[in-house]
Amino acid sequence: MQPKVPSNSAIASRMEQDWDARARENAEFYIATGNERWSPEDFFRGGKINVENDILADPQLIRGDGEFSRMRVLEIGCGAGRMTRAMAEAFAEVHAVDISAEMIALATRNLSDLRNVFLHKNNGVDLSGLPSRSCDLAFSFIVFQHIPSRNVIENYIREVHRCLKPGGMFKFQVQGCMAVESTHEDTWMGVPMSLDDARALARLCGFELLCSSGEGTQYFWLWFQKPKWPWIPKPLQSAASQALRHVRNALRKRARLTFSTRKVRPGETYIVAVPAFPGQVIDIAYEYSPAQKAPPVIGVVVEWCQLDSRGKARIPVPADHPAGRVRITGVRSRTHCGPWFRTNKTIEVAPKLAP
Ligand SMILES: C[S@@+](CC[C@H](N)C(=O)[O-])C[C@H]1O[C@@H](n2cnc3c(N)ncnc32)[C@H](O)[C@@H]1O
Repeated sequence: MQPKVPSNSAIASRMEQDWDARARENAEFYIATGNERWSPEDFFRGGKINVENDILADPQLIRGDGEFSRMRVLEIGCGAGRMTRAMAEAFAEVHAVDISAEMIALATRNLSDLRNVFLHKNNGVDLSGLPSRSCDLAFSFIVFQHIPSRNVIENYIREVHRCLKPGGMFKFQVQGCMAVESTHEDTWMGVPMSLDDARALARLCGFELLCSSGEGTQYFWLWFQKPKWPWIPKPLQSAASQALRHVRNALRKRARLTFSTRKVRPGETYIVAVPAFPGQVIDIAYEYSPAQKAPPVIGVVVEWCQLDSRGKARIPVPADHPAGRVRITGVRSRTHCGPWFRTNKTIEVAPKLAP
């Protein structure tokens, strides 16, 4: 006789009890088991590194119209807010759910200074309460690897599909090591998943499996995309999005870009903000016109600089830079070899002050 499969709500109530107990015992350790006693700085630094590597630098998530600073992201299983904090720096809004009220209480305390984070204690199986088609991106790390039920995981994926806007991406990590033994009673070792399982789940829940990495390992990452135009036959969909990207590039949108100052002297530093490319290395093309001489433009120069997670970079002006006007004519993401965006911003380099 087949063993009776417990209901989703019975599994959820076990997960809730266990995660509440883990949060009371040593939340930070059960969230990131690399250290038994985390300092708050190291705990959140680890989350920031994960966000930078797994979200901000992920070319699949940037594609074309990916301006994080305008996007609303959904995080499943936020714990004490380890990654949520860094997500809030890069995204317009973060909506984060967790099954454990104890974890949500910790996250609420840890993130109380942030105005764009919305924390929700959920029931561990769905996203009820979150509106349909409201999120641009959904993300989950080291959560599904603990869920001991394929049904619950499938239910979450259906729910994410409901909450994503068309074209939105769900990037998540599952247990990919098929040797892992998982039972419904154990809420630490979740059900493992093969690439075939992932393909089947994507199809069942209306997603396209865009790509995967780490198959067969604990860190099996999946990129599920909600089709942008479900009414267009599948083989034509990627051609359609490519065409759209070409049109968008052809229009060569202007990049929003600001300087901390209009005038700078040789040897000083100014801040340039390009919020469209947080955390990325960008190329900057500029023309330089010397103060009084003709012809006015002496050439187009391309330089690069690294932006922080808010899209800002400090740019030093060389001590021997001659006085004149520097006009930034274009920027592009070097990290993702993106298209050039036209700009028309000028900064004045004033003559060096006499020592
Ligand atoms: C290992 S922690 C990871 C937290 C966070 N993702 C991070 O990387 O810092 C796992 C978190 O997932 C939550 N969790 C476990 N099962 C869940 C479920 N079915 N639904 C929502 N959250 C869940 C736990 O309460 C816990 O906070």
